[in-house]
Amino acid sequence: MKETVTRSNPAAAPASDSVEVIYTAEAIAARVDELAKEIASARLEPLLVIAVLKGSFVFAADLIRALNRAGLEPEVDFITLSSYRKNRISQGSVDILRDVEMDVAGRNVLLIDDVLDSGRTLAFAKDLISARGARSIKTCVLLAKATRRAVNVEADFRAFDCPETFVVGYGMDVAHRFRELPYVGRLTDD
Ligand code: IMP
Ligand code: MG
Repeated sequence: MKETVTRSNPAAAPASDSVEVIYTAEAIAARVDELAKEIASARLEPLLVIAVLKGSFVFAADLIRALNRAGLEPEVDFITLSSYRKNRISQGSVDILRDVEMDVAGRNVLLIDDVLDSGRTLAFAKDLISARGARSIKTCVLLAKATRRAVNVEADFRAFDCPETFVVGYGMDVAHRFRELPYVGRLTDD
């Protein structure tokens, strides 16, 4: 399925405006419900969910409501991390743009991120929360890319294994665009 995303400001548009759907809104919703049940059966309560912004905000919003349907009552906080990328490739450094507000010491933490690619972002977040004395840390990503990881980290929970391609939508962007798409897709050149 291919959709052409029409923009009101063509001057701001990059060369490609076409997004090919990889995961539909319906497929994501069904998988998020399954994932919440997997997380619930891991018995992590009392649970503190920390969403890694910006890319995970849509996924996290859906997942915490699915967790509620699965019987959990998580507390929720956010951290904004920036992984510097050039030509859509991770360059290695991760910065904290906005930190969590809550004290994570002694807490069972579930980190939520959008994409696991080189692994640097998730490894950075895990190390940070661990250094602050969390009791346990589990990780959950929407997409685990088939990329060779630059650091040794895998997600404890993941919605989908995804091909090594740059994806947008469902919260994820390229140059601040496409976050609002209800599906996950990849940019095409036509
Ligand atoms: P990593 O640090 O290389 O694992 O990259 C993870 C971060 O880069 C994610 O949290 C995303 O914000 C971003 N990222 C990686 N791949 C993509 C992609 O295909 N589309 C949008 N963002 C991505
Ligand atoms: Mg991210």
